[in-house]
Amino acid sequence: MSESVSLTKDGEIAVITIDNPPVNALSPGVAEGIRAALEAAQNDLSVKAIVLIGAGRTFIAGADIKEFGKITSGEKGGPELNLLLQNIEDCAKPVVCAIHGTGFGGGLEVAMACHYRIAAPDAQVGQPEVKLGLIPGAGGTQRLPRLAGIAKAVEMCALGDPVSASEALKFGIVDTIVDGDLRQGALAFAREAVTKGQPPRTRERSAKLGDERSNAPIFAAGRELAGKKARGMIAPLRAIAAVEAAAKLPFKEGLDRETELFRECLFSEQSKALIHVFLGEREVSKIPGVSKDTPTVEVRKAAVVGAGTMGSGIAMVYANAGVPVLLKEASQEMLDRGLGTIRRNYAASAERRRFTQEFVDQRLELIRPSLTYDDFAEADIVVEAVFENMELKKGVFSELDKVCKPDAILASNTSSLNIDEIASVTGRPHQVIGHHFFAPPNVMRLLEIVRGGATSNEVVASSLALARKLGKTGVVVGNCRGFVGNRMYAPYQREAQFLVEEGATVEQVDDALYSFGMAMGPLAAGDLSGLDVGWRIRKEYQHLEPKGVRRPLVADRLCQLQRFGQKTGAGWYKYDPSDRRRMPDPEVEKIVEECARAAGIDRRSISDHEIVERTIYALITEGARILEEGIALRAVDIDIIYIYGYGFPAHRGGPMWYAGTVGLKEVYDRIRQFRDQHGDFWEPPPLLRQLAERGKTFDDFDKERVLQLRAQKH
Ligand code: NAI
Repeated sequence: MSESVSLTKDGEIAVITIDNPPVNALSPGVAEGIRAALEAAQNDLSVKAIVLIGAGRTFIAGADIKEFGKITSGEKGGPELNLLLQNIEDCAKPVVCAIHGTGFGGGLEVAMACHYRIAAPDAQVGQPEVKLGLIPGAGGTQRLPRLAGIAKAVEMCALGDPVSASEALKFGIVDTIVDGDLRQGALAFAREAVTKGQPPRTRERSAKLGDERSNAPIFAAGRELAGKKARGMIAPLRAIAAVEAAAKLPFKEGLDRETELFRECLFSEQSKALIHVFLGEREVSKIPGVSKDTPTVEVRKAAVVGAGTMGSGIAMVYANAGVPVLLKEASQEMLDRGLGTIRRNYAASAERRRFTQEFVDQRLELIRPSLTYDDFAEADIVVEAVFENMELKKGVFSELDKVCKPDAILASNTSSLNIDEIASVTGRPHQVIGHHFFAPPNVMRLLEIVRGGATSNEVVASSLALARKLGKTGVVVGNCRGFVGNRMYAPYQREAQFLVEEGATVEQVDDALYSFGMAMGPLAAGDLSGLDVGWRIRKEYQHLEPKGVRRPLVADRLCQLQRFGQKTGAGWYKYDPSDRRRMPDPEVEKIVEECARAAGIDRRSISDHEIVERTIYALITEGARILEEGIALRAVDIDIIYIYGYGFPAHRGGPMWYAGTVGLKEVYDRIRQFRDQHGDFWEPPPLLRQLAERGKTFDDFDKERVLQLRAQKH
């Protein structure tokens, strides 16, 4: 039929098999292949029923995401599925769809057009399009409510979460679950269907569509939930509007409305940004010098040094992945404290039913507390997470060098210190690397992998493989103060604080950035992680700071007053001791005014727009420097770091992508104005100037870089 679709026969049953590895995506040719096979099966008089099934590990897992970009950039093509689905639905012979693995997006849409659906017990179905800023575009929003009812369809289309086979059965999305061989099960089902005949076509069903009165509260609740869970995103609301059309309009008109809404989403900035993030997540693991053939260390046993905030969380990350982990502390008291935190965290997860008690017990058993380096020789990797102090870390690494096996990976969780200096105390700097987890490590998805000057390709490759095993997204960065994430965060924080000194209120700054889409405003985030952390680092690095440069003044004053944030009940805000609710604090306003007066700053009223520009453009400026220096390989690496590590809104694509949506020329011109108004911090990096002048974006920079790397390889 085509390379990816085959037609075979088993007696009077035709079997159409989709074989488009790895996930049977609906790439160009697949829909056409199915259509041709269907036509042949229909024309074959000996065929009485048809089975549609996927080869390999899954049924159709969705559209081919690269195709969306082609449509929006004006190229022809893309999934024109509606015609195929109508052909399937109109087929005079019963069509049985057999689902295993994941029947997502276009996969579920194909399945719903078939006359019957059967599923393997561990199959999942879903309409996850909203996660890419889209809605189902081939009848998903019209057929799903007809099968599963309005409420389930709203939930699935607006939130995009997958549904298990048993739930799909309960809601009528599939007709039965087949234990054992799915193909055999499908053949048996199809033979029965020959005698049973066809049920009403999905598009003709209406029993579950409800009426206006019963549906109104469902749509209202769906919109409210989407507003909370997908703040600032338009696709979930469009998905609900499309399901609403299914309830109100005849099928054909509903389908037209869906197409309209789908195209609106497809051409939206949000969808382009989310597709950039989706493809970027795959791109970041491509590192020059590292290939599939690079040997990697298999991590069977791990060890962590330090059971504080980070160390205890990192031990949980390993245990959650089933890796036994030694956890070493300096004293019994600290060890008990760390283990207490771990137990409390697990108990909370069990309570919220994220994990079963059995899972929790197994994981706790994998964590072995220790006060010595005995048994460290067994570890394939050690992660050091002691205080952020160079001398202390050097002491730990020289111990590790003595006790660990020669090919063990020695990783530091430092958030800013020089990896090469840490490595210098060992006799094996090629085995030393930064594994920068984010707080809380058992929740945050990012692992910033810091490559030192001597780190070997094998250790980099092993770290990337390990990140996957731990359920993290690993991004490889170069060694400099603060690496990528924290280096960019410093000017972002600086501007937030300058804006307060210049006249914005603390809440105004936080609210403006929260409205922009950040998970949290920068000042509230400072209160959460503890203002004393930065204060200590500032004191440690004081000798490196250039003289005569404006520096934020308020945070140091807050720390001198022991206002370290949430943990002391006060920081930028004050906190209600009973529920930690934050409240503006007139004390802080007074401190701000004093600092501004002492520094001779004329306070003025500041717009939310300026707040967003100053803080986000500070990220972009530093990001451009980082790219220029090669500390990040690609702009998309920076975007992924900011989305998964710092709560940057994914639907804006990350700071570097966002710069392109504003227009690099506009960003560049504004940054030059900031330089004239606020000083040399804002000197635009040459890379930004060049791209702006050439009318390019950071995405163009990435594309050029990929071509350069390819050329070097050949
Ligand atoms: P912490 O103060 O909570 O924990 C440090 C722990 O190390 C303490 O429990 C201390 O008793 C222990 N320790 C000190 N010397 C030791 C030794 N010789 N052997 C065993 N244990 C020893 O500090 P936190 O916040 O967990 O930070 C640890 C590292 O992680 C630092 O390098 C920090 O910069 C980095 N980091 C921190 C993040 C955060 O949000 N707290 C985020 C990312 C990285």
